[in-house]
Amino acid sequence: MPSVGIVVGDGKKEYPGKLTLYVTVTCIVAAMGGLIFGYDIGISGGVTTMDSFQQKFFPSVYEKQKKDHVSNQYCRFDSVSLTLFTSSLYLAALCSSIVASYVTRKFGRKISMLLGGVLFCAGALLNGFATAIWMLIVGRLLLGFGIGFTNQSVPLYLSEMAPYKFRGALNIGFQLSITIGILIANVLNFFFSKISGWGWRLSLGGAVVPALIITVGSLILPDTPNSMIERGQFKLAETKLRKIRGVDDVDDEINDLIAASEASKLVEHPWRNLLQRKYRPHLTMAILIPAFQQLTGINVIMFYAPVLFQTIGFGSDAALISAVVTGLVNVGATVVSIYGVDKWGRRFLFLEGGFQMLISQVAVAAAIGAKFGVDGNPGVLPKWYAIVVVLFICIYVAAFAWSWGPLGWLVPSEIFPLEIRSAAQSITVSMNMIFTFLIAQVFLMMLCHLKFGLFIFFAFFMVVMSIFVYFFLPETRGVPIEEMKQVWRSHWYWSKFVDARRT
Ligand code: BGC
Repeated sequence: MPSVGIVVGDGKKEYPGKLTLYVTVTCIVAAMGGLIFGYDIGISGGVTTMDSFQQKFFPSVYEKQKKDHVSNQYCRFDSVSLTLFTSSLYLAALCSSIVASYVTRKFGRKISMLLGGVLFCAGALLNGFATAIWMLIVGRLLLGFGIGFTNQSVPLYLSEMAPYKFRGALNIGFQLSITIGILIANVLNFFFSKISGWGWRLSLGGAVVPALIITVGSLILPDTPNSMIERGQFKLAETKLRKIRGVDDVDDEINDLIAASEASKLVEHPWRNLLQRKYRPHLTMAILIPAFQQLTGINVIMFYAPVLFQTIGFGSDAALISAVVTGLVNVGATVVSIYGVDKWGRRFLFLEGGFQMLISQVAVAAAIGAKFGVDGNPGVLPKWYAIVVVLFICIYVAAFAWSWGPLGWLVPSEIFPLEIRSAAQSITVSMNMIFTFLIAQVFLMMLCHLKFGLFIFFAFFMVVMSIFVYFFLPETRGVPIEEMKQVWRSHWYWSKFVDARRT
């Protein structure tokens, strides 16, 4: 068997181009599209636990929680309606990413980002001013529609704009914005929750700020040369590409973009096309990478962290401390991946991160099992023991933040050929949303039944996904995006599907 996951791209085409100030600023602005997603992840969990919010919109949940003194720690949080409210956004995002695939292809990446910002803004206003439950739900759906548009277009935009040698670093700006959004939202939530009665309005309404950033940003951003060519604007694309790359000689790259666009024109039905044999590797990655990203259990750890911090004895400050500690680790480790992704490659980060998460998950499972046992009775936990748990949570979050977090968005956005790029990216977004939704929905139930075994469940998937990466994911570092077919052609397994004679 030939070696697996060989690095290709060496000795292949090298387009001239520098990391210009223009492309850097453009990518930073576009990456801010991640802020709205991050802000929502950080804000929604906290808001749904605020008393005033529950009393106003979910009085029965509030009553039940006040009455219930559940002795089983594993079954403490079990309000399905609240979880459903939170996760309705993911279903909305799923639907809109499919519409976004059409808009992104026909009208450009920029328009999708703009629509994303505007819809999110409308949702934030409706939520902030909500006086009835329908306003809350419609607002939440609008937020979801917005996220579907931006998560579909921003990663593609960044991967197309970036010079290929810096594509990883520039694309991860998106994940960096997500993590910054989460951190800011968590900290704000902590303080807003102290304003009794209407603090939740500030938390929810505050989403207007990141929404305006990406709305205004998308108005001033140029579209990508790939997208301009896809829509027949050849001259404009050439001038733009010169400016983006900071060199005059962009002929090679332009010719390849035109060739990609010609191939793309022949495709009338990108969705049906995706089912063709030659796109099997792309379709597999579009489905599995986002699913695996969620099966790392990251959102469960994020949710569970405050509870663990409480056991250390931080009391009412636990939520803040947990948010700040895990939030800073999340942001910091994402910066590490920006530094390393184009140097060490995607596979190294995936595999290292996977191993690190596996170890920490097993450790957390053991520690939680030791504290709550099989029946979930709170026991006495020595402080040093709890500190070790928190340490492992941080090690876990760091690993996610430099592997599956950013790569879960980067790798899909760089591997699809132009003719299926937009459709395939919306599959990636949809899968991410479906799995986030499913895990959020079944998490409470699973925690109640699997107990600390829940972490073993995720650890099992860590093993599966690492094996998958090792054998099936080729290295994509340093390969120009329109040259990616070479990567599959020289892969031990995927070459059967994309064989040169059959493509
Ligand atoms: C994931 C989110 C997750 C976040 C954590 C993102 O890449 O898609 O589900 O909450 O990273 O930083």
